Amino acid sequence: MNGSRSHHDRPLQSPDHGAPVAPENPVVKRLKQRITRDGPVSVATFMETALGDQDGGYYTTRDPLGAAGDFTTSPEISQVFGEIIGMWCADTWQKMGSPAAFALIEMGPGRGTLMADALRALRMVPDCRSAASLHLVETSPVLRDIQQKSLRGENITWHAELPDIGRTPAILIANEFLDALPIQQYIKFEGQWCERVVALDETHDRFCFGIHRSQKLPARAITQQLVEADEGTIFEYAPEVQSMVSDIAHRLFLNGGAGLIIDYGYTRHAVGQTLQAVQRHRPVDPLDTPGDCDLTAHVNFQLVAETARAAGIKVWGPVDQGVFLQKIGIVERTNTLLKSANVAQSHDIRTAVTRLIAPAEMGTLFKALAITDDRIKHLAGFGTDS
Ligand SMILES: C[S@@+](CC[C@H](N)C(=O)[O-])C[C@H]1O[C@@H](n2cnc3c(N)ncnc32)[C@H](O)[C@@H]1O
Repeated sequence: MNGSRSHHDRPLQSPDHGAPVAPENPVVKRLKQRITRDGPVSVATFMETALGDQDGGYYTTRDPLGAAGDFTTSPEISQVFGEIIGMWCADTWQKMGSPAAFALIEMGPGRGTLMADALRALRMVPDCRSAASLHLVETSPVLRDIQQKSLRGENITWHAELPDIGRTPAILIANEFLDALPIQQYIKFEGQWCERVVALDETHDRFCFGIHRSQKLPARAITQQLVEADEGTIFEYAPEVQSMVSDIAHRLFLNGGAGLIIDYGYTRHAVGQTLQAVQRHRPVDPLDTPGDCDLTAHVNFQLVAETARAAGIKVWGPVDQGVFLQKIGIVERTNTLLKSANVAQSHDIRTAVTRLIAPAEMGTLFKALAITDDRIKHLAGFGTDS
């Protein structure tokens, strides 16, 4: 799994001693000043600052993707990924009744590779292509510049948040987007769920985890599983994910359409900590170099599904990425590419596709979940409505 963001072989619990603080990053300075002034910060604030700070945030300041970066993602592994998702969009558009106009929205489009590959595939369905207006939701100025280059010639509107596109139906794609949204952590301490926070170990000049005894998990989030959990258990609470999914689902409920969410995560509510950091294709301590490493948390797909259903729309899956990609034609598209490939290219194509679908690689840890309005009765990759 080296190279992808989904390291799952790390220890479940981060070491509480933290790691040396690298003072050169503006994010480190900002977090240190804030903690010294106001006290420890939530894991969500730590994550949000580390990733999105205007001066030194990880995504604000660099292109983290690819061999020269810190991690890679499915669209960067093989063009086939974006191409078959493009065909999934065309098929879904037909199931929506082939509307004359719809918004094709991608959340967190990275280098724009998925969208570029999807649009190339969509040329085969010209009516769908001409009905689509293109919207990219991206907060990173560096990645927006790269997206502009990858998608030169396309008529695209960029947004900092989920756009209001009026009454237009939409097809929305989010690949490895929800895992980047900040999560809160709580720890069972003396029978109570108290917030796990990031403090400063001034003696060692390091960030470290601590417990905010008076900051409790909201009562509405406490389930029987949490009541029964052992002392010291960690629980990840993701209101930002809920709010994002709820916004998307409400838009689809009102205007019609479909959303496809692909990410690494788990399919049942669970306890345990999944906050992780990746730097130069290796897992590192999440507190070590904020602003200079990618910080993510695994996605709770049950939470995503429940949140979407609460907005009144239909949920499909989650299914394993490997299953989903095979159902929407990865083998057929790969075979077509292989016909015109030389020996070395064939080897590369096969290796990349295996990485996307093999259970031991990205095939089962990554899940696909779709949400649609009620009129869609069959959805490629997921099957028929029950
Ligand atoms: C791991 S990358 C995934 C990139 C792309 N989807 C892919 O599969 O290659 C996460 C993307 O989400 C963007 N992002 C992170 N937080 C965001 C937010 N709150 N709003 C919009 N984009 C965000 C990042 O800048 C980046 O483009």
